[in-house]
Amino acid sequence: MNHLISPSLLSANFANLKQDIDMVNNSQADWFHLDIMDGVFVPNISFGFSIIKQINKYAKKPLDVHLMIVNPDKFIKEFKDVGADILTVHYEACTHLNRTIEAIKANGMKAGVSINPHTPVTVLQDIIEYVDMVLIMSVNPGFGGQKFIGNTYNKISQLKELINKKKSNALIEVDGGVDMSNAKQLIDTGVDVLVAGSFIFNSDNQTNTIAQLKNL
Ligand code: DX5
Ligand code: ZN
Repeated sequence: MNHLISPSLLSANFANLKQDIDMVNNSQADWFHLDIMDGVFVPNISFGFSIIKQINKYAKKPLDVHLMIVNPDKFIKEFKDVGADILTVHYEACTHLNRTIEAIKANGMKAGVSINPHTPVTVLQDIIEYVDMVLIMSVNPGFGGQKFIGNTYNKISQLKELINKKKSNALIEVDGGVDMSNAKQLIDTGVDVLVAGSFIFNSDNQTNTIAQLKNL
């Protein structure tokens, strides 16, 4: 059980967010996963700086911020200022990815890069040694509660191989459709961080669901 659990607040109850933040604080979860969507890079809009700032006030665990936005370079300092600890950008949204990654690190955060389901792992071969984490999307980004895409396992194996070959320290995070039917196999394939939203927040005993994912 060396893997980490990062519950996605996208599926939390925003009318009573403090309760869900406390639940995560008091659970075996390791991070808070925050999904930021701009309605351009993905067909949905989530929440922005003021909400992240409020979450950061009460969260006692690192904020794992997943940017599904175009032009993330414009806002790197702002995300640091509202409390992001890990900032992940999409490969598909960055023309100068190396510059973006360096800017995230220069602002005192861990830098992650995410790839969409159709983007091959091979595009990461010249960036892998500079990133702290790779987030493999196992659904098309934009919404919680979607079905896990099976080809993800192949991508994780390929990524693990690339990480070993390049002697990178990057963690592997998987995001989308994670539940008890795939979590164990994902960990066995090489995943370090499991993101789960609807599986946790729609369950009857959220703390217990987190414990189940943690204690695989
Ligand atoms: C989807 C987001 C995910 C989402 C996962 O675009 O990046 O983090 O919240 O939700 P589930 O676990 O319900 O698939
Ligand atoms: Zn996410």
